Amino acid sequence: MDASTRESAPPLYQELADKIALLIEQGVLRPGERVSSLRKVSLQYGVSLTTTIQAFLQLEDRGLVEARPKSGFFVRPRLSPSALRPVKLRRAPSVVTVGALQSRLFEAAMLPQMMPFGGAVPAVEMLPMEKLNRLLAQVARRAGSRGVSYDMPPGSETLRREIVKRAMHAGATLLPEEIITTCGGTEALLLCLRAVAPRGSVVAVESPTYFGMLHTLEELGVKVVEIPTDPQTGMDLRALEKILKTRPLAACLAVPTFSNPLGSLMPDENKRRLVQMLAQRDIPLIEDDVFGELHHGLQRPRLAKTFDEKGLVMLCSSFSKSLAPGYRVGWVAPGRFYERVKTLKLTTSLATATLPELAIAEFLANGGYDHYLRGVRAKYALNVKRMRETILACFPAGTQVTNPQGGFVLWVEMPDAVDALVLHERALAHDISIAPGPMFSPHQGYRHCIRVSCGMPWGPRVQKALQTLGRLAHSASS
Ligand SMILES: Cc1ncc(COP(=O)(O)O)c(C=O)c1O
Repeated sequence: MDASTRESAPPLYQELADKIALLIEQGVLRPGERVSSLRKVSLQYGVSLTTTIQAFLQLEDRGLVEARPKSGFFVRPRLSPSALRPVKLRRAPSVVTVGALQSRLFEAAMLPQMMPFGGAVPAVEMLPMEKLNRLLAQVARRAGSRGVSYDMPPGSETLRREIVKRAMHAGATLLPEEIITTCGGTEALLLCLRAVAPRGSVVAVESPTYFGMLHTLEELGVKVVEIPTDPQTGMDLRALEKILKTRPLAACLAVPTFSNPLGSLMPDENKRRLVQMLAQRDIPLIEDDVFGELHHGLQRPRLAKTFDEKGLVMLCSSFSKSLAPGYRVGWVAPGRFYERVKTLKLTTSLATATLPELAIAEFLANGGYDHYLRGVRAKYALNVKRMRETILACFPAGTQVTNPQGGFVLWVEMPDAVDALVLHERALAHDISIAPGPMFSPHQGYRHCIRVSCGMPWGPRVQKALQTLGRLAHSASS
């Protein structure tokens, strides 16, 4: 390159910064990853060390990398370009767009350095990983060719029998023939919605509600009516009654036992009334019970399905919160919609993965599932208590936190002036993921709320991250 061309070209450090920015944008250099040493970069690109330093200072100004003392430069844990979308969405609050926020949350959760308060996912330390994987190997050996073959719907009979036994303890009388195994609770919910809620129909949901459900509803083109939900007793039945009088509903979707994100537990009497109110109008209740086994007290709460006399309760659950989210094993007891759901299963995933089903069946039958559950319930109860106390101690005055009797998520209501989306961005920059309140409503409400997962073992790292979050909440007022 001659001198005149060089003069009109951007400075060398700028060119280098642009090249590295491109690598970050294209995901070659990933968020949280250390960029190789300045000396190596200068050698690789054939530029001086001074030029390299200038390039990195510019990348830092552009928010793409951050310097960490004695460790060098790291790609900032900013996510894909969709990172800015939530701010835009705030201007168009009526559009249901939880999908984008959900993808970001999962992207963040995958980063190894991230404190994963954002996902309601049990940390591996809480799972019986070794035992379960050992059982998987054993059943694989025993199953031979069956293990690599399709296990067509309704899925493993052994597993369905074990599910029936457990449902009995929760008050529901089921038969193995009434159950279909699924790829996690997500598929169970999807099948139920596809069976009863056509595009354009309206489904009642708790508010706030689990964003995965909102995402599914969004994809199905189903409209949502939000029913106020009490942090202790769940869906407000009087509010639901009013809605029932004014508009036709295709279904009601609820998590009566340890809802997500509130952790609310409907008293038995409310569960009975909910089932009856809907039955009077022949409206199906899709009951999501993924947290039901994780009660902190001694008693396993009863299922709403217990009160189902007309086959209108479609009970969904999975082993994702209690055993292994990655095994992707769930199930549905769809009541009178059994045949329809079974047919739909063929078009969504054909069959559930055979070996994970068998391993879980073995764990339930002979693996000490109850013993494991007793231990893990106590751990979650303690985590929830400690994390709740820490949040109350270090968040801005006026902050309120739920006090769930089961599960492992906390809903944190901060003073109105704190913007959860701003806090979310700032927390990510400190390697802390949280779930901002607007994810839990189709109208992007709950702007001053966040959900915090307590699914990881308590320790100094968790405590410090909560303290950092509290500090950030103090400065995230709009
Ligand atoms: C209330 C609720 N239902 C369903 C699911 C999905 O469960 P799975 O991982 O089994 O698909 C989740 C996951 O977070 C959840 O919180």
